[in-house]
Amino acid sequence: MEASPPSTATTVRRLAAYLQPHWRAQAGAIAASLLAVSAEIPVPLLTKALVDDVAIAGKLELLPPVLAALGILAVLTAALSILSRYLFTRAGARAVNVLRAHLMRHLFRLPLTYFRRHRRGEIVTHFTSDAEAVLTAYQESYGQGIASAIQLVVVVAVIAIFDWRFGVAAAAIVPVYMLVPWMNRRHQARASRRMQDATGQLGGLATELVAGTRDLRAFNAEAWSLQRLRLGLRAMLRAGVYQGTVRGWSYALNAVFWLIHAGIFAVLADGIFQGTVTIGFALAMVGYFAWLDFSVFPLTIAYVELQNAVGAAGRLFGFIDTSGEPAADQASSELSVPRGEIEFRDVSVAFASGPNVLQGVSFTVPAGKLTALVGPTGAGKSTAVNALLGFVRPHEGSIAIDGRDISETGPTQVRRHVGVVFQDPALFTGSIGENISFGRDDIDLARIKESARIARAAEFIEELPGGYETSLGERGLGLSGGQVQRIAIARAIAPDPKILVLDEATSSLDAEAERDVMAAMSASMGGRTTIVIAHRLATVRRANEIVVLDAGRVVDRGRHDELYERCDLYRDLCDLQMVQPAAAP
Ligand SMILES: Nc1ncnc2c1ncn2[C@@H]1O[C@H](COP(=O)(O)OP(=O)(O)OP(=O)(O)O)[C@@H](O)[C@H]1O
Ligand SMILES: [Mg+2]
Repeated sequence: MEASPPSTATTVRRLAAYLQPHWRAQAGAIAASLLAVSAEIPVPLLTKALVDDVAIAGKLELLPPVLAALGILAVLTAALSILSRYLFTRAGARAVNVLRAHLMRHLFRLPLTYFRRHRRGEIVTHFTSDAEAVLTAYQESYGQGIASAIQLVVVVAVIAIFDWRFGVAAAAIVPVYMLVPWMNRRHQARASRRMQDATGQLGGLATELVAGTRDLRAFNAEAWSLQRLRLGLRAMLRAGVYQGTVRGWSYALNAVFWLIHAGIFAVLADGIFQGTVTIGFALAMVGYFAWLDFSVFPLTIAYVELQNAVGAAGRLFGFIDTSGEPAADQASSELSVPRGEIEFRDVSVAFASGPNVLQGVSFTVPAGKLTALVGPTGAGKSTAVNALLGFVRPHEGSIAIDGRDISETGPTQVRRHVGVVFQDPALFTGSIGENISFGRDDIDLARIKESARIARAAEFIEELPGGYETSLGERGLGLSGGQVQRIAIARAIAPDPKILVLDEATSSLDAEAERDVMAAMSASMGGRTTIVIAHRLATVRRANEIVVLDAGRVVDRGRHDELYERCDLYRDLCDLQMVQPAAAP
């Protein structure tokens, strides 16, 4: 189920939870911040000494020590601020890395239907721009916000020590500064969400256009694509202007500072004239109030950024809250597959609230045998395979491997024993060897070569200049469709799985190459249970059993000759492809 974004309070709490493990670094950062502020406290007093004692009273001998003290304090403040910033930034970066890894782990558990409803590029923006907004909040607003809040309290206290009336005024001014951002907070979060949504849409569209460049150009559809892009850009523009305007409001109170400046002199004017207040004191007060301004301004920015992060994080947590498969480590128990017999019992599958795609499907795949699933396109063949692999969950019936119901063991356990080649296999950037071993360290080069040989991939791989070290582009760029399929087959058989599933795995090969691959695989099968899905029926006619599916139901099952005799659908399919019964000449 897709979740709606959590409330602001919940979002902030969840954002804070990611920072929690780094509390030591943050405590250090806060301490450094406090020290930096303490080092700054005497600065306006030194200014007062410069004005009253050095400039007006003419005690020139005080000039060098005052300057030296100012210099030391400046260096100290700078060093401590950098340290504090470094610690906050590091904690933020670590927290966001954990968040990003968390997002990816969640992505791996999402039901495949999620990827039908959301564009790839849009999902990717969760890792990029949404996570980036959270990072900014962690690094800029959070660290800066705490540092500024500390400064604020200290400065108000220092001002109050000098003159309690100014202290009260200083304390009263702070809420005035915060008023607009606070009133704006909902707009701010909404603006951010809208901006991130627009970014996501645009990312999704751009990815689609990049991936589909060839097809778009082949149909001279560039203008059509640009038109679609323009719509996305316009939405982005509107969101950006809205966000900018809302932000602008929050910064509108900068001018308050000049009024304060004037106010201080207005209040002190009489005292200065009477000689009860020194000019140095007035300047020191201006200094402290300027400092107040310096600290309150980043605080308003921090608040604004926090609202932004809340908007982006709402999207992220909405994504994380979309329910998925149970995590691998939560799988209840080990599945052992001594034989590899698969049994579908009255399995019904539906997507969302749609009709049943599989309807009471029952069949047994005997251990160590070759079983074929055939049927017209859309019959539910791939869905049956997806149910076995746990990508879709039957709402009725069950699937068992060697008598164990797979819903009890979880998909990760099943996938350990099932090698699969999908209709449209994905390869990844990296060498061909890596694409075959896929990070399983028990698969050495010898095994990689052996698998490639069985998949009839060895010939063309060894002819490549880099052999198994040849780098592949994204999704196997630069390989032919049949080459990609053969690498995918090698990848499926490399770990020597007990069960092998081939969904149109050889559809891009010519008939002869396909026959070679199938023959090599059955020679190497050695008791491996194999499910083959193929439209080309010549591929499957030697199967021990053929299960004929139509519109989600099993219409018949048997050997090629029997089915050719008695199953009209099967005979029609065969006749269309001019596949004869085995007995015919
Ligand atoms: N994730 C999904 N969400 C919604 N409908 C789906 C989904 N996957 C498959 N379907 C629908 O289920 C039906 C069966 O699809 P399936 O992919 O199992 O067919 P198939 O027999 O493998 O067809 P083909 O021979 O074309 O590969 C189709 O009508 C398809 O549109
Ligand atoms: Mg299919």
